[in-house]
Amino acid sequence: MARAKITIVGAGNVGATCAHWCASMELGDIILLDIPALEDVPKGKALDLMQSSPIMGFDAKITGTNDYADTVNSDVVVVTAGIARKPGMSRDDLLATNTKIVSNVAEHVKATSPNAVVIVVSNPLDAMVQQFKKVSGMPAKQVIGQAGVLDTARYRTFIAMELGCSVEDVSALLMGGHGDTMVPMPSCTSVGGVPIRRLLDEKRLNEIVDRARKGGAEIVSLLKTGSAYYAPAAATAQMVEAVVKDKRRLIPCAAYCDKEYGVGGYYVGVPVILGAGGVQKIVELKLEPEEQTAFNHSVQAVKDLIAAIEKLA
Ligand code: NAI
Ligand code: 2OP
Repeated sequence: MARAKITIVGAGNVGATCAHWCASMELGDIILLDIPALEDVPKGKALDLMQSSPIMGFDAKITGTNDYADTVNSDVVVVTAGIARKPGMSRDDLLATNTKIVSNVAEHVKATSPNAVVIVVSNPLDAMVQQFKKVSGMPAKQVIGQAGVLDTARYRTFIAMELGCSVEDVSALLMGGHGDTMVPMPSCTSVGGVPIRRLLDEKRLNEIVDRARKGGAEIVSLLKTGSAYYAPAAATAQMVEAVVKDKRRLIPCAAYCDKEYGVGGYYVGVPVILGAGGVQKIVELKLEPEEQTAFNHSVQAVKDLIAAIEKLA
């Protein structure tokens, strides 16, 4: 069986680290693409990664390029192109610049890999995945965004740290947009099968939920020169794995919801079954009243961002 062809657009921190995880998980052959102004940098990173393969013991061909011709007919395209938030930078700076970058990438991907499953990572996530879908015109099930796997991983990490237990035993769900309004779901959180509310009191749980919500900002304030990339890249690699191995993972992704959850035609984080071809199903849960209110608030924040993009035009 031929190996999957995985293109990663943007060979920066998240892109190169995602290539690293995907290669070491033997998910396929990987092409790292960046802008012509970066010249041979993607080639250099690709060659360096390849040279780690005899040591780490994985088989994957990793190449770098500035030319979409090398990416033709990719099975999966990961979009990490764009600027990352630095201290002092406004949300609007990110929105205006990344809307242009993601639109440019969408035109190229539509022309070269129209059948690929596309995983958008660039921020502001929910708006960028919507922009990609709009410009590319690709089917909604093929175009998804990565946020929920990362945000859930942060939430799971903090719970494991609190309880002093293995992260492997913490199972959780988080919904809504990738921002301060995201909705961690204690009702869908358990540790070794035990509902979280039997292990932590409401006050401590709320503190953990709050830290998970602000998890991205916490890393920015520590790094100072950029944003997180190890966990975001690992989260993206998990989504690539679900697609290329048709694992049918039930995980939170930014997916296009119309009637689902009454969203009305926007991308927002919801539980999906992710496998070959992309979103195989959006899983609709009956939300508790508090969760529903928080979810509606988060969806409104996403709608406000899309309205801000429309004003840019
Ligand atoms: P970075 O600055 O290290 O890398 C971005 C790369 O994109 C650079 O190499 C740049 O040359 C490239 N690029 C810019 N315009 C391009 C174009 N038109 N075509 C191809 N490549 C282009 O940034 P980093 O840390 O890798 O973050 C990338 C994006 O991912 C940011 O927007 C960041 O906010 C976002 N992000 C999203 C997360 C999520 O959970 N959804 C988590 C972490 C980061
Ligand atoms: C994060 O959550 C910045 O979206 C990025 O780390």
